[in-house]
Amino acid sequence: MSSDRRLFVCINQKSGVGEAVAKALKKALKNQRPKKLPNGDKQRIRVQTCNCLDLCKKCKKGPGAALIVYPEGKVHGNVEPADVAALIADYLND
Ligand code: FES
Repeated sequence: MSSDRRLFVCINQKSGVGEAVAKALKKALKNQRPKKLPNGDKQRIRVQTCNCLDLCKKCKKGPGAALIVYPEGKVHGNVEPADVAALIADYLND
């Protein structure tokens, strides 16, 4: 499986926090050295905002926004900008 990731952040219900999460993710990823893969390629991670992901229970839970990471399809709910560093460290650098 490719190590490339796409993160979609919902801005439907909470446009302010969703946009802040996407901005924090982009900034954190920009400040991080790209992961080199064994074949010499770099891991590509793209962050996008989107409308409803049909995960509204995750959006309604707390003040944060919902996001989904592909290709795994892993869902994170109630994500706030302060959670971005942990999200990247725990998940995206695998
Ligand atoms: S409003 Fe965010 S997932 Fe539906």
